[in-house]
Amino acid sequence: MAAPELDLVLAYHKATKHHLNRYARGPGGLDWANQPDPFRRYAGAPLIQLDHIPAGERPLYEEVFLHGRLPIRPLERSSLSQLFYDSLALSAWKQAGGVRWSLRVNPSSGNLHPTEGYLICGPIAGLCDTPMICHYAPQIHALEQRTEVSLEVWRTLTAGVPEGTILIGLTSIHWREAWKYGERAFRYCQHDAGHAIAAVTLAASALGWTAMLLDDLSTDSIAALLGLDNPDSADGPEPEEPECLLAVYPQGTTCKSRSLPAELIESFKRLHRLGTANQLSLESVDWPIIEQVADATRKSATNGYGDGQRPTGPTLPVGSAPISFRSIVHQRRSCLALDGKTGLTREAFYQILRKTIPGPGQFPFTVLSWPPMIHFGLFVHRIEGIDPGLYCLVRDPSKLQPLRSAMKQEFAWEVPPGSPGELLLFRLLTGDARELAQQISCHQEIAADGCFSLGMIAEYEAPLSRYGAWFYRRLFWEAGLIGQVLYLEAEASGIRGTGIGCYFDDPMHQVLGLDDRRFQDLYHFTMGGPVEDTRLTTLPAYSVPLT
Ligand SMILES: Cc1cc2nc3c(=O)[nH]c(=O)nc-3n(C[C@H](O)[C@H](O)[C@H](O)COP(=O)(O)O)c2cc1C
Repeated sequence: MAAPELDLVLAYHKATKHHLNRYARGPGGLDWANQPDPFRRYAGAPLIQLDHIPAGERPLYEEVFLHGRLPIRPLERSSLSQLFYDSLALSAWKQAGGVRWSLRVNPSSGNLHPTEGYLICGPIAGLCDTPMICHYAPQIHALEQRTEVSLEVWRTLTAGVPEGTILIGLTSIHWREAWKYGERAFRYCQHDAGHAIAAVTLAASALGWTAMLLDDLSTDSIAALLGLDNPDSADGPEPEEPECLLAVYPQGTTCKSRSLPAELIESFKRLHRLGTANQLSLESVDWPIIEQVADATRKSATNGYGDGQRPTGPTLPVGSAPISFRSIVHQRRSCLALDGKTGLTREAFYQILRKTIPGPGQFPFTVLSWPPMIHFGLFVHRIEGIDPGLYCLVRDPSKLQPLRSAMKQEFAWEVPPGSPGELLLFRLLTGDARELAQQISCHQEIAADGCFSLGMIAEYEAPLSRYGAWFYRRLFWEAGLIGQVLYLEAEASGIRGTGIGCYFDDPMHQVLGLDDRRFQDLYHFTMGGPVEDTRLTTLPAYSVPLT
């Protein structure tokens, strides 16, 4: 890895920290006339309508988190429709006065939705006779067909992945987030990509399928496959940045390769693409640091892990709550306010934390190609049976010592009562942490009024130096995956959660005693008893006519 790229990443991260006395550079106000359209459309591309598949009682929520628990559904029109419906589709509309906005199954910072989804597939019964590349349009739950490829090309492309594989591509439109958040937007785009990866992986698991990040592919190859390799001109539609490609295939089969043939992918650049991307805003503001960090974190074909490490950890028992996975996914919302009263039993708290620990066959973490890099600093407020205070969850046992030595030496590191052996959860300090949690989360009350909130503490300088600047994006993806699990766990526990992208990085480090770049706070999350905003009306997804 070239050192300038790593320097650039470190400089970007430092420049986009919020401080108690100064926020990261942003637009300073919202230019409503220029608000980006949340829906990218490719005008003129043939449309393939997908089916709306109402959520039933099965599969059960708990069945979806472990490999091999569910029957394998054949790849056909209805199962493919369900995959998108349960991951990237609209989930509801909200209305306040005369204003309406849509929500989606996958959450997004500020509801701005920078993540776009793509499908690359072979022939699918009831859907298409020819292999094709499509953009997914959540607004109408349909595919926009951008090109076709021959059966021969499709077979050669997918020779190294299991029979019945489809490929899901994810991209980011930086401008959607930068419009509101300025320079910090690149971070949020990466969080959102992580949430989307988790959403697709869990939706795949509900169909008896599995997903794997094709992490040996270069960013350029993903651009070529998805048809993003012609950078748009300054006054054209806002560009999409390639993020990742997932192979989705039946559980029980093995994917031997995390790549696709690079030479063949080169030929995709010459394919004729159908449809013209819409322009999302009248004009967009340039944030050069975002393009610099995007550039520095693109993955080349030679970047990789070297030693092929895989996640390791305990196998977790499956819980027994008989609730529908698909209902939970579609009802998932961010809390707008928390009641400051609702508590959790410690068993429920431990169960939630256990879901975030990757073990063999543990969805959605199976999709990632690296061992856990993220640990939690927790502010425990209202968990029955354990003291309020500051806690640490170590998600990879081999990182306990490095974390202990990086944090304040006076911390207790005491196991809380009833904590299951496989959960490396420690009480660091006892006390009321509500005010501190709120202050660190940009003074947002939701961080204090929940049962607990947490900061995701990423291993930072070592993996970036070891793998390369491109790994920076992956740290956020892992954080986003965890965030998605926490969102669903909150719903399944009868409470509500919210990702918190606005937090003060360095004050959180000071609380834990982190004073160098070994660890970096990357994302926050809170959950508790929600207070609904009664001024808002909720309308079902796809019930609002297009304007
Ligand atoms: C990466 C990320 C960061 C977020 N940061 C905050 C935050 O700092 N404060 C907040 O109140 N909500 C935050 N949210 C919640 C979003 O505003 C919410 O997901 C979005 O409005 C969509 O609503 P939904 O989650 O109900 O679909 C965040 C969500 C994500 C995914």
